[in-house]
Amino acid sequence: MPIQTTGKIWHNGNMIPWEQATIHVMSHVIHYGSSVFEGIRCYGQPHGSAVFRLPEHMQRLLDSAKIYRMEVPFTLEELIAGVVDVIEANGVAPCYIRPIVLRGYGEIGVSPKGSPIEVYIANFPWGKYIAGHGGADVCISSWNRLAPNTMPALAKAGANYMNSQLIHMEAEINGYQEGIALDVNGLVSEGSGENIFIVRNGVLFTPPLANSALSGITRDSVLTIARHLGFTVTEQALPRELLYIADEVFFTGTAAEVSPIRSIDRVTIGDGKPGEITKKIADEFFGIVNGLKPDRFGWLTPVKVDASETVTA
Ligand SMILES: Cc1ncc(COP(=O)(O)O)c(C=O)c1O
Repeated sequence: MPIQTTGKIWHNGNMIPWEQATIHVMSHVIHYGSSVFEGIRCYGQPHGSAVFRLPEHMQRLLDSAKIYRMEVPFTLEELIAGVVDVIEANGVAPCYIRPIVLRGYGEIGVSPKGSPIEVYIANFPWGKYIAGHGGADVCISSWNRLAPNTMPALAKAGANYMNSQLIHMEAEINGYQEGIALDVNGLVSEGSGENIFIVRNGVLFTPPLANSALSGITRDSVLTIARHLGFTVTEQALPRELLYIADEVFFTGTAAEVSPIRSIDRVTIGDGKPGEITKKIADEFFGIVNGLKPDRFGWLTPVKVDASETVTA
């Protein structure tokens, strides 16, 4: 979907006009994929707006940068303040927030030495990522997720999304909404931009991070919510075929939020409708993020912007 522009972008601690947030074609990031980034949502509340799990997202950004030896010249607190400032400067909520750390213009060559670290934070309106209330029709990708000790899956790096693009494009071309990737050993990993959960006999399962999955903030939120609701949740390796015979399957992610899956490879999941446990978890998740249920886990950072609309389930 086309990007809806806003007025300002935070760049290295200063607000600059949206149009001036450009980089040179010879920047290191363009040639070698050297960026790490975040995707965060700010939700409308009955009074004002709030960012969902902002400190956790910015800590993951710093962790991703650390894995790639990128020295970010801002503290966690400064980055958190930068997000709040840019949302309030633009006055746009609900919105999606995209902080990015990249290696800029300096020297040519794979070695990043001599290419400066640049930090940008943009925000813009963005609605549903996986459309449809009835659940998504998805496939298992012919592409595997990144093998361990190749590209680190725990780093949310721009370069990882070349793999995600292959998974997503293949799915779309074949008429599916999304693809699920297996890891290099053929075990379930995650979607191109989402973690995955299954429900079988009343128990929730999700692959552990060692199956090349990103450490999703929504994944962690769902694990917390599910335990709070009294469900048993197990992080364990899942064979592909368990997906087909699951009672319920759903994706989680900042963009995807909690998105039920209706079919996988044209095999109907359960009775083809969002399952009861998925609905209970989604209800709690959307209740919290939209400020309609207590923020019992302390996940919301308020921002001083009145929401023009509320993104709901
Ligand atoms: C590959 C991948 N897995 C999982 C997720 C879900 O992570 P989160 O819930 O932190 O958005 C994302 C989205 O950021 C992703 O790109």
